[in-house]
Amino acid sequence: MAKINSNYQKLAAGYLFPEIGRRVSAFTAANPDAKVIRLGIGDVVLPLAEPIRKAIDAGVEELGHIESFKGYGPEQGYEFLRQAIADHFQSQGADVAADEVFVSDGSKCDTGNIQEIFSTDAVVAVTDPVYPVYVDTNVMAGRTGAADASGRYEGLVYMPCTVENGFDPELPTGHVDLIYLCSPNNPTGAVLSREALQKWVDYAKANESIILFDSAYEAYISDPSLVRSIYEIPGARDVAIEFRSFSKTAGFTGVRCAYTVVPKSVQARNENGELVSLHTLWSRRQTTKFNGVSYPIQKGAAAVFTPEGQAAIKETIAYYMENARLIREGLAEAGIAVYGGVHAPYIWLKTPGNITSWEFFDLLLSKAHVVGTPGSGFGSSGEGYFRLSAFGVRENVIEAVSRIKALKL
Ligand code: MLT
Repeated sequence: MAKINSNYQKLAAGYLFPEIGRRVSAFTAANPDAKVIRLGIGDVVLPLAEPIRKAIDAGVEELGHIESFKGYGPEQGYEFLRQAIADHFQSQGADVAADEVFVSDGSKCDTGNIQEIFSTDAVVAVTDPVYPVYVDTNVMAGRTGAADASGRYEGLVYMPCTVENGFDPELPTGHVDLIYLCSPNNPTGAVLSREALQKWVDYAKANESIILFDSAYEAYISDPSLVRSIYEIPGARDVAIEFRSFSKTAGFTGVRCAYTVVPKSVQARNENGELVSLHTLWSRRQTTKFNGVSYPIQKGAAAVFTPEGQAAIKETIAYYMENARLIREGLAEAGIAVYGGVHAPYIWLKTPGNITSWEFFDLLLSKAHVVGTPGSGFGSSGEGYFRLSAFGVRENVIEAVSRIKALKL
């Protein structure tokens, strides 16, 4: 009989968001009249901006005519989009070339798949709390042992990001090969400072480590002095891969388009100790396993970088960030300790009365009919914390905050 990849059996039974969905479905089935407000998964609610939709429409139209029809596109993405992305990085002070950009169908996929090009005995460091994809994909690949009672996997290096350390993880005491960093952070909403990022780049250079930098939420940074791209940091082009997405930036969670930058200068060693280009490996991986994002969607993504596209996405982001302000300030008025939500669409809060994250989830769902995400679902350091997403329709956000306040926690 065929044998399974037994690493899958080390995983917690369900991925976090489907598990939340399951509990919410059970609640709504039992309480069909409850008006549930979902601020759990970070899923956008506002429609695509007009310049983006028009560009997608124009792309579809081109496919309807023999002279402009297109079949398979380049696996790495069309040149027009790769160039627009590279120009955008350059405008942010980050040195990225078009042929270093790999267009994809999502940062979840890319941050999950990237580990394939590294050795299975690579030592992996993750922050705690952390976006679960980084951990689970390394578990699936066999880089860990079993999970302990708190959910931590043997063999992974966990770097706590807590209120106490200002969500600024300390450097590992020993050597690690791969370091996942996310800024602005999902789930805590914290942004790593320039100094902190320089410290990581210096560590990576000294230790021949690779930084896997997830900046899917960079468009939410409103302070121009904060770092949006790791490539703003001197030396990063030798040690870092960066992941970005149109999902939260331009409302593409259902549309699907993202991109990953693998600089030509970033290298790691093979078994013989020889240096190998990670750009070549990732290109080899993508050309084998991926056939690119559809042409109309890439046209829509390119429209994000036009002046009209930029104006439109800034408006949408401002809408979500006003939601974040309402949640942050409303909960603070209710006496709840809140973090994040200033340069990120996530508000990280301390559960009142020290109850567990899942207890707070159940309390909020049953008493206020509001869905959030238990902090412990992101790692053991998230226990006793809770995440609310700012991706909601304004009236729902206002209603959710008023229902939470009314609980008098
Ligand atoms: C989240 O809620 O953390 C995100 O929506 C997950 C994702 O982007 O995959």
